[in-house]
Amino acid sequence: MGNEMVFELNEPLDMHLHLRDADMLKLVGPLTSKTFSGALIMPNLVPPVTTKEALLAYKERIKEACKDDNFEPFVTLFFKNDYSYEFLEDIKNDIIGIKLYPAGITTNSETGVSSMNVENLRPTLESMSKLGIPLCIHGETNGFVMDREKEFMPIYESLAVAFPDLKIIMEHITTKEAIELLDKYDNLYATVTLHHLLITLDDVAGGMLAPHLFCKPIAKRPEDRTALLNAALKAHPKLMFGSDSAPHPKHKKECCGCAAGVFTSPIALQVLVELFEKHNCLDKLNAFVSTNAKKIYDLNLTNKTIKLIKKDFVVPAIYEYKNENVVPMYAGETISWSIESIN
Ligand code: DOR
Ligand code: ZN
Repeated sequence: MGNEMVFELNEPLDMHLHLRDADMLKLVGPLTSKTFSGALIMPNLVPPVTTKEALLAYKERIKEACKDDNFEPFVTLFFKNDYSYEFLEDIKNDIIGIKLYPAGITTNSETGVSSMNVENLRPTLESMSKLGIPLCIHGETNGFVMDREKEFMPIYESLAVAFPDLKIIMEHITTKEAIELLDKYDNLYATVTLHHLLITLDDVAGGMLAPHLFCKPIAKRPEDRTALLNAALKAHPKLMFGSDSAPHPKHKKECCGCAAGVFTSPIALQVLVELFEKHNCLDKLNAFVSTNAKKIYDLNLTNKTIKLIKKDFVVPAIYEYKNENVVPMYAGETISWSIESIN
């Protein structure tokens, strides 16, 4: 006692999160709501969230699953290019943003947009821009897997130029090109995951195949990871933490035809502290996981303080509830920081 190392985080936010539904929501919801103040929730359910009724009902189910915690679910709508102005005006105060998926690019995105051409997207984007609704984008083409994000950069540029008043968030960026683009346009922002700060393609497929590290976008090259890490460690003001924690049941990961997604919710804060401590950047962590997002999305949150302590935490091999289960990143491994208290 006495010389234990502790670190406090205030109102941590996860600005890109998959909570799923039903029993999986009941399993994973509390693993975020316990330690985070709020999260931006992805709409790629089956079917995707495209109506006010579905949105409000989903938000209620999330609140119910997370009811023991002081937690704000910021829900999003699944982008369609034919939303009317009146519909968006009516739903504006219930959503934090709208998530755009190119069709078929990842899990449950089949009904996403089939053409990223600006004119094809203009009706909805013009309304969003007028109403001040942020646009979150899964920025990948359907090109060669390692080039998909890089190939999407001109699309981000054309959208940033065509809609200068629209806040555009490049979700889960994985490349040095995306980091460079961040500083080129005032209205471009980004989220970055925990796993993309830690791993490269080598960790996924360089040795024995690691299905629990397989995700979209796929982890890239060492120089990409370095660019992402440098931006995160200095808490680049346009960059936010968004875990993209994406649970799939164990049998859908450990099989032929592995689903994409890394489940990091229960370890995210501990590993972030470990990472920022290792690089002597703990003074930047609150900005990266909280204040940057508060400023970008103009969020007000009630106080929540997470105290972490430098003490070993053995990551559970699996999390289970009823018939659902999910294997976390670093399952069975030891990390050097633990959650001490939550106030
Ligand atoms: O790895 C991923 N999993 N990437 C995504 O874009 C979607 C997510 C999911 O929903 O499973
Ligand atoms: Zn995602």
